[in-house]
Amino acid sequence: MAASLTPEQYLEALFETDETLDRVKEGIRANNMPEISIAAGYGRLLTMLVRISGARDVLEIGALGGYSGICLARGLPQDGKLVSLELKQDYADLARKHVREAGFEGKVEYRIGEALDSLKALDAEGRRFDMFFIDADKGNYPNYLEWAIKLARPGALILGDNLLMRGKAMNSEEKGNAVTKMRQFTEAMARDPRLEGVLLPAYDGLAIARVREY
Ligand code: DHB
Ligand code: MG
Repeated sequence: MAASLTPEQYLEALFETDETLDRVKEGIRANNMPEISIAAGYGRLLTMLVRISGARDVLEIGALGGYSGICLARGLPQDGKLVSLELKQDYADLARKHVREAGFEGKVEYRIGEALDSLKALDAEGRRFDMFFIDADKGNYPNYLEWAIKLARPGALILGDNLLMRGKAMNSEEKGNAVTKMRQFTEAMARDPRLEGVLLPAYDGLAIARVREY
């Protein structure tokens, strides 16, 4: 009888424990925040993509407890910076604490409030980015994608978490706003002519797209 491990569990067990990220998860739990940080395997992918793309300016939408922020910061060069947008002050405070404990305090700037307001402000300031990680309210994913394309340097990478929404996105009987908008986002990541996309079905689904240079 084969052990009933998922493919993700089998592969995840091959890695050494990551004490920094384990502490982040403990902090999230201790503060009664939702335990929905990005999957460990995708966290490693974030670090690798920042590193191999040479991204200097990274934008994250949705900080939660700082787990993905640390993964992104780990891949940045010496002069690289992460801007992290978070709706809730208490989440941003915990994320900042975790980022400081991980040694990346000087690399991360938090902006608190509605992400759509922060995106507008970043545009007004002329800020542009090499990589985006979208992991916030699912009903706004198509809006966040449009902003990411607007704020992208040519060739920038755009990533989005939770394409599958625990399987809801694949169930045609699910017709709620968040699921509908997530399907719209996923389709754009696959087919928008401005993008070159890849969709990964592991964990809860991750989209990666490169903004075409034209
Ligand atoms: C859930 C997971 C996420 O990664 C997220 O961003 C939002 C919700 C969830 O499993 O409910
Ligand atoms: Mg997520």
